[in-house]
Amino acid sequence: MSLSMGVRLKRFLIHAGVEIMPFIPLPGEWYRKLLVRDSDKRYVSGRWAYMKEVAESHRYSLIIGCCEYYKSRDRKILDVGCGEGILQRRMAYTEYLGVDMNAEAISLAKSREDEHTRFFLTPAESYQPASLYDVIVFNESLYYIPNPLTVFEHYRAALAPDGIVIVCMFQTNLARRIWKKLSMNNMVELTAIKISNELGFASMIKVYADALIHPAK
Ligand SMILES: C[S@@+](CC[C@H](N)C(=O)[O-])C[C@H]1O[C@@H](n2cnc3c(N)ncnc32)[C@H](O)[C@@H]1O
Repeated sequence: MSLSMGVRLKRFLIHAGVEIMPFIPLPGEWYRKLLVRDSDKRYVSGRWAYMKEVAESHRYSLIIGCCEYYKSRDRKILDVGCGEGILQRRMAYTEYLGVDMNAEAISLAKSREDEHTRFFLTPAESYQPASLYDVIVFNESLYYIPNPLTVFEHYRAALAPDGIVIVCMFQTNLARRIWKKLSMNNMVELTAIKISNELGFASMIKVYADALIHPAK
């Protein structure tokens, strides 16, 4: 069935916007505030529902694949900006903690709490992890958080010595600036995978480990 003119035009504009977006140098803080405002509305209106659909499932699958590859056992996971816990639903772990500042998302997730699984309502920047984690995940969340590099460092202190950090971000200008700085912080990049969804939104998934423990790739 051929697409209507309206749908084709919409797709064209989305593709053009997606291509241009990483090169628009908006001040990082403006960009972040726009994202956060949009994110909060999405939980109420249900516009995050698409993240559970097949078009987004490759992102979760790859993150889970990286976890399984680098941490085949004893997976104690901290999911920062976990939303309603889509990742938690699909992954195997010995212990999982998801933190998010959105009350709607955490209340949806809490029905799945059990002795191995907890969700906690908190801004990521003010949460103090009480133990060490084998895997720390920032899945589409790091650029929403104020001072993302400081927060990344804050969570690194909660990484088990041979643990990994997995970061996934859509390719935006803010993400480009964050990636550049993350690569200068004494962590070794074990993997970098670029993916795109059906609308052409490209994401990058990177896996980091402590440079002292994994001195070379
Ligand atoms: C695009 S959603 C991603 C959700 C989830 N990681 C996933 O991929 O299914 C971004 C999430 O980051 C959360 N978030 C934004 N700013 C935050 C902050 N400062 N502290 C904790 N969570 C935050 C939002 O509430 C939202 O749930």
